[in-house]
Amino acid sequence: MTIQEKIDKRIEDVGGSKKIIEGLIDHYPSETTNYGCIFEGFILARYKPWDITPTYKEMYRTALSNDRMYIIDQYSSNMYKQFPDAPMAEFGVYTGGVTCMLLDKGIKVFAFDTFCGIKQANARHDAHENGEYAVGDVQGTLDYIQGAVIIEGEIPFTLSQVDEKFSFCHIDLDVYRATHQALWYAYQNILPGGVIICDDYGMETCKGVKQAIDEIMVGNKVYLPTGQMVIQKPC
Ligand SMILES: C[S@@+](CC[C@H](N)C(=O)[O-])C[C@H]1O[C@@H](n2cnc3c(N)ncnc32)[C@H](O)[C@@H]1O
Repeated sequence: MTIQEKIDKRIEDVGGSKKIIEGLIDHYPSETTNYGCIFEGFILARYKPWDITPTYKEMYRTALSNDRMYIIDQYSSNMYKQFPDAPMAEFGVYTGGVTCMLLDKGIKVFAFDTFCGIKQANARHDAHENGEYAVGDVQGTLDYIQGAVIIEGEIPFTLSQVDEKFSFCHIDLDVYRATHQALWYAYQNILPGGVIICDDYGMETCKGVKQAIDEIMVGNKVYLPTGQMVIQKPC
């Protein structure tokens, strides 16, 4: 059974109905840009569709919770359907779980990380410190995400190495400056209609992430109950 089939079964098991979802969408006809948010918020609160076995965390080596993995899974699948030839990117790979999930879909993925932990932390903005989230077994991680294009080194200095147009980007860098630079780069290089998901917008320990996102994006952003921020470039 595919992950999507497991999720559909989970919704069916807890009494979910496509009719309810369609009714909800009809109820918000003007909220076209927030369509995804309303849909996801409703699904999340009501059905907890990430409650599948094995869980995302059992399937993938990730620091993210199952609900956040579910969101990334859904949006990236959607973008892959719309832009089957476009690559995707992850900024902040750590042990590789998200990158691996994207690779499993058959997508070309650019994986940006120092692989030796956080850089660009600044006590003025960030509660995190340089060196946190260092990957112990770097070779093991590189083997785990074999097939990804590895861009190893410190953001922002590595960003200019890649000149691509992405359909989907995941940004999970935990600190202000790296997030600011990665989001600026990602928004310049995302296809019209493409999606960027930023982790930790709602985390008390990552206030610099929220500040960076708010400085760059005034509109086109939707805050999810998972703490993630979804940004879509208009078509
Ligand atoms: C919270 S972890 C990412 C978790 C990962 N997305 C997952 O699914 O498990 C944050 C990552 O950002 C990376 N990072 C932080 N600052 C960076 C910078 N300036 N340049 C490149 N990578 C950075 C760290 O090395 C770490 O791997």
